[in-house]
Amino acid sequence: KIIAANVVAGAHKVYEKARKKYEMAVQKYGKKKEISFPNTGYYLPVIYGILGFPVKNLGDAGLVLDRSEQLIPPLIREKAHLPYLGPILDAGMASLFNYEIIEAIRYLEEPDFYLPAEDPTDDKLWLGAADDVILRKRGVEFVDGTAPGFAAIVGSAPTKEIAAEMALELQKKNLYVFMAAQHNGTTFSQQLREAGVQIGWPTRLVPFGPDISSAIFAVGFATRAALSFGGIEPGDFRKVLIYNKDRVFAFVLAMGDVSDEWYAAAAGCINYGFPTIADTPIPQILPTGVCTYEHVVSNIPHQEIVAKAIEVRGLKVTVTEVPVPTAYGPAFEGERIRGEDIYMEAGGGKTQAVELTVMKDMNEVEDGKIEVIGPDLKDIEAGTRVPLGILVEVAGRKMQSDFEPILERQIHHLINYAQGLMHIGQRDIAWVRIGKGAVEKGFSLSHIGSILHAKLHQDFGSVLDKVQVKVFTEKDKVDDLLKQAREVYAKRDARVEGMTDEDEPIFYSCTLCQSFAPSHVCVVTPERTGLCGAYNWLDCKASFEINPTGPNQPIEKGKVIDERLGQWEGVNEFVQKASRGKVVKYNAYSIMEDPMTSCGCFECIAAVLPVANGVMTVDRDYKGPTPCGMKFTTLAGSAGGGNITPGFVGHSKLYIGSKKFVAAEGGILRLVWMPKALKEMLKEKIDRLGAERGVSNLSDRIADETVGVTEDEIYPFLQEKEHPAVSMDSIV
Ligand code: SF4
Ligand code: NI
Ligand code: NI
Repeated sequence: KIIAANVVAGAHKVYEKARKKYEMAVQKYGKKKEISFPNTGYYLPVIYGILGFPVKNLGDAGLVLDRSEQLIPPLIREKAHLPYLGPILDAGMASLFNYEIIEAIRYLEEPDFYLPAEDPTDDKLWLGAADDVILRKRGVEFVDGTAPGFAAIVGSAPTKEIAAEMALELQKKNLYVFMAAQHNGTTFSQQLREAGVQIGWPTRLVPFGPDISSAIFAVGFATRAALSFGGIEPGDFRKVLIYNKDRVFAFVLAMGDVSDEWYAAAAGCINYGFPTIADTPIPQILPTGVCTYEHVVSNIPHQEIVAKAIEVRGLKVTVTEVPVPTAYGPAFEGERIRGEDIYMEAGGGKTQAVELTVMKDMNEVEDGKIEVIGPDLKDIEAGTRVPLGILVEVAGRKMQSDFEPILERQIHHLINYAQGLMHIGQRDIAWVRIGKGAVEKGFSLSHIGSILHAKLHQDFGSVLDKVQVKVFTEKDKVDDLLKQAREVYAKRDARVEGMTDEDEPIFYSCTLCQSFAPSHVCVVTPERTGLCGAYNWLDCKASFEINPTGPNQPIEKGKVIDERLGQWEGVNEFVQKASRGKVVKYNAYSIMEDPMTSCGCFECIAAVLPVANGVMTVDRDYKGPTPCGMKFTTLAGSAGGGNITPGFVGHSKLYIGSKKFVAAEGGILRLVWMPKALKEMLKEKIDRLGAERGVSNLSDRIADETVGVTEDEIYPFLQEKEHPAVSMDSIV
């Protein structure tokens, strides 16, 4: 049974609403008035992604309204059959455009309606459109598989308890939950808040807004994922839709009476391959058999609705069982534990916390042995600060000491994954909080050991056979561990710092981001880390040895094609193969000539400044304008997606401190502008590199936002400070 009538009627309603809002806004502000979502390079992303049209002002929105009017078929009678399906899908798509316009006008008229943050506050719940910083940060989780997709929930559950149960179930399945629209006078997100559930991006429970139109932010997020990580051209709507169908496992949960307007939105989502699963009886929008799975599944009881949705969408979720009394999974990684909720705290400048992973002989490790040395949680009062040492000792026939830092780095997220536990930092600046809720459920410090034992076996079973864990809370024991740990850290650091690209015949690839940016390959060399900053050469080497078929493969660099630009035969061959012919060559050390591809999760992006005769770089945390005329988000939008973009290159923060940073254009001596905070962080390294090349106090000569944010503003400063770039050969 086709119920095209509801979709079409809904599409008309949404269109009329948008048109009315638009006419009123034009009267008030005029057609030239700018409209946008905050801090994004993707304009109104659904419209931009599908039509390729950047809506910049109200007049532009008017053009889109005209277009969507053409897309919606005339109203049809209740049981009439449409001769083909296209018009229903088109009506759905038009409704998405119109919802987006409604929301853009809301941003214009009520700029404070949404909270431009990651978390709601006590008096403000709605987060609205995710800005590009959030998109990229969260997108990485889609890339590395810690989040397979999202559930868009519209409406509300019958009770807040049911809402909380459903949310927990979705979190345990590692999904994001995007919430919009109300039903029975409340929203799903309000119900969660009333049930005391922590909501916001960090816990993956995202309250977009109270109206159905705010569901468009979920579709906008998906569209931008395709543009940003998939490198798809705006307007290539087929690719945007297929990308989402194949890579973003999303579905809609309709909770409550489905109105015509919800129908229209559901039809829009079918274009993306996102099915709707409802708790009320509703008929199919399209006949079954059109797609590989049903588009609408209805009348599902609440206890089964999440499982049903996952089944319909064909999502394979692997839930890891870890023997702890709290829920466990990546959705609990970002929860915060503050103030009154803290039961125990260690580190964070108040006490010493330190963690270390070391390799031992087989007979020195007793697998599964977990010791708590010092007071456990039951022995201390709520709100206590303790010193903390975590020592993980591993053994295995294939284990090497090179793997120690890789295993040690797991401690951070593995502990964070436990609900009610928070972990920040690493090494001797670790910081741990355990919440009252976890302790009430029976959590003890020995469970930290249980987590590490279970998960390290699960994820690194190929290299280790035995894991034992000691947790110390006695000050002198922690101090002993600290001393031992610092010696180990120093040895580890010395290893990479002494290495050069010239001496090393093998580089490593990283193609982890290909799941989202299919043509992207990072080539990681001893002097150039992956552009996300998470992988250096040693990490990739270890990762390859641990998982020989994984994303980090050795590359024999082969014959040098150009030493200055950083081009090698073996690297080109590898990149050609790994990008399936899309990229035939690139240079590791140049920004002007065939620079490396950029995927979208770079920590920084560098751009050429022709007037200043140098290079600037900007990191993700700096939100203001830059001398190249673009903010980070705009830059990232124009240079990401796995493409080569001469004049721009994505890189890690650490790479700035490498001798090979834009070496072909003169290296660090070309760097003329960077955000002040980043400069301060890297000051020592920059000055050392400068001094090696005969320039003293180089960091003081580099401009930042306090000097200016245009080339004209910074140039006199560079001249005055005798910045070396001023007298170098022309960069272009
Ligand atoms: Fe992505 Fe490159 Fe980082 Fe690998 S090293 S995760 S490909 S950015
Ligand atoms: Ni946690
Ligand atoms: Ni990436």
